[in-house]
Amino acid sequence: SPHFAYRDGILHAEGVSVAQLADRLGTPLYIYSRAALHAAYDAYRQGIGERDVLVCYGMKANSNLAVLREFARMGSGFDIVSAGELQRVLAVGGDPGKVVFSGVGKQAAEMRLALEAGVKCFNVESVAELHRLSSVAHAMGKRAPVSLRVNPDVDPKTHPYISTGLKENKFGIAIEEAPAAYRTAASLPGIQVVGVDCHIGSQITETAPFLDALDKLLDLLDVLAADGIRVEHLDLGGGLGIRYSDETALAPKTLLSRVFERIDARGYGSRQIVLEPGRSLVGNAGLLVTRVEYLKPTDAKNFLIVDAAMNDLIRPTLYEAYHGVLAVRPRADEAAALYDVVGPVCESGDWLAKDRSLAVREGDYLAIESAGAYGMVMASNYNTRPRAAEVMVDGGSYHVVRARETVEQLFALESTLG
Ligand code: LLP
Repeated sequence: SPHFAYRDGILHAEGVSVAQLADRLGTPLYIYSRAALHAAYDAYRQGIGERDVLVCYGMKANSNLAVLREFARMGSGFDIVSAGELQRVLAVGGDPGKVVFSGVGKQAAEMRLALEAGVKCFNVESVAELHRLSSVAHAMGKRAPVSLRVNPDVDPKTHPYISTGLKENKFGIAIEEAPAAYRTAASLPGIQVVGVDCHIGSQITETAPFLDALDKLLDLLDVLAADGIRVEHLDLGGGLGIRYSDETALAPKTLLSRVFERIDARGYGSRQIVLEPGRSLVGNAGLLVTRVEYLKPTDAKNFLIVDAAMNDLIRPTLYEAYHGVLAVRPRADEAAALYDVVGPVCESGDWLAKDRSLAVREGDYLAIESAGAYGMVMASNYNTRPRAAEVMVDGGSYHVVRARETVEQLFALESTLG
């Protein structure tokens, strides 16, 4: 990527040496590139052109305040799934009028907070939630703006991706049940129907599943129109895939041009499109830097034991996800060998990468690629490991955007019996 590249034999984040950052700030260290965040958002802007599309950043992917602040400044909205995420948006001056609230388990207190803030839309995932939201809003003298998250049941056989748009999962309302649910919504005193919503899965690299889902949504709009229910926007969720190894990323422009074609052809060209991209806005804007503690050759395998672990980046062990690994300062004087890159945590599942060819020595730094999405946000303190620091590079300068945790902070909320 142009934002993470070698210069004079050393990996740089924009204009800053990754080795120098690691020396100064310690490891494990998450490094984000501000320019990469902007470039990712610009790719959406290019795809949008003059059309009415609202990008609501799926902030669960990376909710560091500095990251959110960049998106807020660029005019992005946010897809939130908790009151905590809403508070983060408000803390960085994000526009609550551009917030959509997703999630299957919204609590009444969370609904109240979102109604007070004035969010754009609640993406409601069940009829029970509709009733609760209506009574909460009604008691506040308000009407909650609502989309129903429908489950388009896109066929995974033709599109083998990890899907959340299938019948047999907890998300959304089955598309066959949607017309009745919409009639219920329209009849409730505290509900204002404003949209229709779906989210079919993540790391999708083809347009076909999105277009299949869109077609089903448009069929539903026809049915709703016959019932006298008009929706203002179509939320197609997130899910655009990025390049981790040899995938071809799905460009927003590629998808959006097809989406515009379809909605125009079906007579819904005036409706706003909402998108909830997470991974594609931040995934390749981040690295996780770690230091090699030990080389451990064994009969079966060679291990590189590093100071980052599954508690810092859980994707490899949780999803068998592939992340590229780079030597921050590749050695010409060392023969490359095949290594499993593993952490110090007491679990066999504590690995970050397998069978990678690397020429390194003890004390060298490695950069785990594509760590900007679902990295730090999924970190834990397992084994009483303080969470990593996060730094954002901006041209030739850098800003620590989250300090490294201390062990004292880890047990500050605990107490003993006396
Ligand atoms: N909207 C909804 C309703 C979602 O559930 C998600 C992600 C998104 C938007 C954003 O999707 P994205 O554009 O990032 O694909 N931890 C997993 C990914 C879980 C995705 C959960 N939902 C991972 O590390 O791959």
